[in-house]
Amino acid sequence: MTTTVCVIGGSGFVGSHVVNAALQKGWKVRVAMRNPNDESKTACLSALPNAKGNIEFFAGELDKKGSYSEAIKGSDAVVVAAFPEEPKSATQMRI
Ligand SMILES: NC(=O)c1ccc[n+]([C@@H]2O[C@H](COP(=O)([O-])OP(=O)(O)OC[C@H]3O[C@@H](n4cnc5c(N)ncnc54)[C@H](OP(=O)(O)O)[C@@H]3O)[C@@H](O)[C@H]2O)c1
Repeated sequence: MTTTVCVIGGSGFVGSHVVNAALQKGWKVRVAMRNPNDESKTACLSALPNAKGNIEFFAGELDKKGSYSEAIKGSDAVVVAAFPEEPKSATQMRI
């Protein structure tokens, strides 16, 4: 069965490298970001090798409780590479 990984913050510098590495392994990737319709961020991820048919984009925000439920659904692993511009305490982030 194909491995599926959810990358929260897959649109960022660190996260995009995780996305690329996962695609290289032949895994399916579910990218969670604040605006999955922002093509200025999704286009380069969709253009990665192996991305076609293996990458999906979902909405989620660190301070919105439960907002990652859909992105995480069915994933074998979750990588958190998102970090707010203004750092908050761990209790304020509601993953
Ligand atoms: N860059 C490095 O060399 C480096 C080295 C060591 C550790 N780190 C650590 O790795 C983490 C990520 O760094 P980075 O360089 O990849 O940062 P980055 O390129 O600025 O990416 C930040 C990510 O966080 C997401 N994000 C920001 N605010 C958010 C919020 N309120 N809710 C949900 N997502 C939010 C952004 O997603 P959207 O804006 O698309 O929603 C983006 O995907 C940080 O903790 C950083 O300290 C970085």
